[in-house]
Amino acid sequence: MVSTEQRVSVVSGGALGIGGGISRRLAAAGDLVVLNDIDDEAADAARSEIEGQGGRCIVVPGDITDPTVVDRVRETALDAADGRVDVLVNNVGDFRPASKTFLHSKPEQWQRLYELNLEHVFHLTYALLPSMVDRGRGAIVNVSTVEAYRGIPGHAVYSAYNAGVSAFTKSLAIEVGRLGVRVNAIAPDLMDTPQTSAAAMLRGRDADLVPLWVPMGRFGKAEDCAAVVEFLASDDAAFVTGQTLPVDGGTLAASGWYARTNGKGWTNMPDQP
Ligand SMILES: NC(=O)c1ccc[n+]([C@@H]2O[C@H](COP(=O)([O-])OP(=O)(O)OC[C@H]3O[C@@H](n4cnc5c(N)ncnc54)[C@H](O)[C@@H]3O)[C@@H](O)[C@H]2O)c1
Repeated sequence: MVSTEQRVSVVSGGALGIGGGISRRLAAAGDLVVLNDIDDEAADAARSEIEGQGGRCIVVPGDITDPTVVDRVRETALDAADGRVDVLVNNVGDFRPASKTFLHSKPEQWQRLYELNLEHVFHLTYALLPSMVDRGRGAIVNVSTVEAYRGIPGHAVYSAYNAGVSAFTKSLAIEVGRLGVRVNAIAPDLMDTPQTSAAAMLRGRDADLVPLWVPMGRFGKAEDCAAVVEFLASDDAAFVTGQTLPVDGGTLAASGWYARTNGKGWTNMPDQP
């Protein structure tokens, strides 16, 4: 059982990548982290690391798109602290299964993309929101993507479901604001994670050009997202709700503008090599 002051924070996909950064950051801030992940080994490693730093973590292994896993996450989180859940981070999402274009895609792919990017957000939120509403307190942070706002050729269905995550964030925030629950999201871009490693993003490209492509001049790190999630989950963000905050090094603001290779200004027409 946790002390009354210790927050209970649930993170889906909390072992690696952005979710891994979030669970480690929230644990370092003193939260008991209920960490769900499909990768048992990575989840156990994350728990050991958190415990090694003096933090607390309970792992609930399994695929969050499986309703029985959602049930286990709910039961584990509610058992941990007398039915209390303070923070929910719906982090799991994936652009795969991918296809070359929408015309090449198959309805089975759309279904899996729905399960991975949007449906589990509904299920886990539905499972944990009542305990927040009962206490009149809670914060939900969803992980969307810049592609909820900016087009991404080849991933139209993925982007549509993530636009759904951001729309759900807005609408739910209005419903539950007076009940003491805030709902926000982050929209990452260009994070160096297992799903979108810098090495894969750079394959065949010149790493020296990254500062021309990204206003902040580098790829993102899971910690960049984790810091913003910690803020959105905290009382410092007590008057912030319904927002999707880009954590993208400025790419959404730039929206197709790049620095020129000759160092003279910017262009929205990609430079010649
Ligand atoms: N990486 C980026 O640049 C980027 C950009 C935009 C949005 N996002 C979003 O950020 C979130 C995290 O992305 P990431 O790059 O850290 O991903 P990742 O694939 O690197 O890590 C995902 C984590 O979730 C776990 N996981 C995957 N599927 C799961 C499932 N079905 N059930 C439970 N656990 C599962 C993995 O084991 C891993 O620990 C996703 O929602 C993604 O769409 C990422």
